[in-house]
Amino acid sequence: MVRKDTREITKILKKAAEKARKETAHEPSPHLGGKEDWPIEATIGPGLEGAISCYTSIGHVNGSKGVLTYGGYNVFDLAINSTFEETAYLLIFGKLPTEKQLTAFNKKLVTYRHIPKTLRLLQSFPVEDTSPMGSLRLGVNLMRRVLSNIEKDVKKREKIKTVNTDEDSIPDETTPVGHEHAVYEVEDVKDNENLEDIYHLISGMATLTAAISRIRNGNLPIEPDPELSHAANFLYMMTGKRPSAEEERIMDISLIIHADHGMNASTFASMVVASTLSDIYFSIGSGIAALNGPLHGGANEQVLYMLEKIAKKGNVAEWYEEARAQKKKIMGMGHRVYKTYDPRARILAPIADFVAKNSPEDKKLLKIAKQLEEEVVKTLGKKKGIFPNVDFYSGIVYRAMGIDTDMFTPIFAVSRVAGWTARVREYLKTNRIFRPRAIYTGEFEKEYKQK
Ligand code: ACO
Repeated sequence: MVRKDTREITKILKKAAEKARKETAHEPSPHLGGKEDWPIEATIGPGLEGAISCYTSIGHVNGSKGVLTYGGYNVFDLAINSTFEETAYLLIFGKLPTEKQLTAFNKKLVTYRHIPKTLRLLQSFPVEDTSPMGSLRLGVNLMRRVLSNIEKDVKKREKIKTVNTDEDSIPDETTPVGHEHAVYEVEDVKDNENLEDIYHLISGMATLTAAISRIRNGNLPIEPDPELSHAANFLYMMTGKRPSAEEERIMDISLIIHADHGMNASTFASMVVASTLSDIYFSIGSGIAALNGPLHGGANEQVLYMLEKIAKKGNVAEWYEEARAQKKKIMGMGHRVYKTYDPRARILAPIADFVAKNSPEDKKLLKIAKQLEEEVVKTLGKKKGIFPNVDFYSGIVYRAMGIDTDMFTPIFAVSRVAGWTARVREYLKTNRIFRPRAIYTGEFEKEYKQK
């Protein structure tokens, strides 16, 4: 249930959904032929474009129509009606929770929002001098130390020794137990018993990100408030202020629409690591690493830096012309799958209008963004299928909410961890190690000459 005191935002979303439906009605719906037998024929481009690696019922991206679906629900409907907690449940379990199930899920999130040991350990590192995504990745490793399947169930198993090392990036790493470890992790997933790590990661990563933001600003981390929602807690733990209903709703919407997106690079990275039967904390750590890049989640920060540069120059058309002449990619534009408007950009653009309305600086950046969008769509829209993606407007929304630019990508991770963990869990049920091939363009049988 969404907050009733944010009706104006609901209206904005309904209008955006209506516009999207009207504008994309003529586009073909995807051909959903059901499960095909392996091997499946596909045309594959570089970067695995077009490759198919598994079945999923978690979500679907229709790139020509611009429709994003989670567990059968259109993302517009989820943004209008749902909450991050409910959406995360939908991704993990494949159906919306009953009231009782949602209460139980919330309880787990409340419990796992407390990660005092991890935060203590994290603060022994120079977080203020480390990139926030680097700290988040480290924090996830530290979370593993505090609670991993092996350590939790230690009574059932033989005594597991821990090693202390100064050099390893993972302090107090458990001694590798090889095959035994791997089988154990998978048994957990198969039995559906042990979802605790998933709850721990979803909840703990929000606490970690909020703490990283505070530490970087010279403040101490704040204890979560059990009365607040996931989105409200996240903002509260980051800023130290309980958010307004509208701020909470906007963060909630943002977390909902970033939560899953097909076999994107970071999801794939998480799944590749999980497919080796590695630990889910390592797997999510690779998702964070992949998300960091400017061609993926890192684009939301780059968009803001780009808009600030354009503001300094003062002329959007001139800046764009120069950028095109230098063959620069415009950050926040284009997508491997969408060849039309990304539905998430359709949601965030009017939300940006709503949050920027009281700040002349934010309004100025938003005006530049809209002019740039017009230029790009005019020149590359139809021609190359380049339209705004999710990252184009998210930065302006976060900036207007007083969030530091270098926290934008970690916020993306706070949401996407729901999709990462859901897809890893789904994949592990019928796991097969990922192993694509490359076309060798080198030589053979070269003679080795002694120097
Ligand atoms: N600006 C200008 N031209 C672009 C852009 C862009 N943002 N994106 C793609 N193009 C052009 C390319 O130059 C290329 O043109 P060409 O055919 O003349 O060589 C053509 O469109 C295809 O581009 P590719 O890079 O091959 O497309 P790909 O599917 O590999 O990349 C990607 C998709 C990485 C998102 C790309 O569009 C891009 O770099 N965008 C900017 C970064 C960005 O916003 N990333 C966030 C994506 S959303 C997300 O990950 C959450």
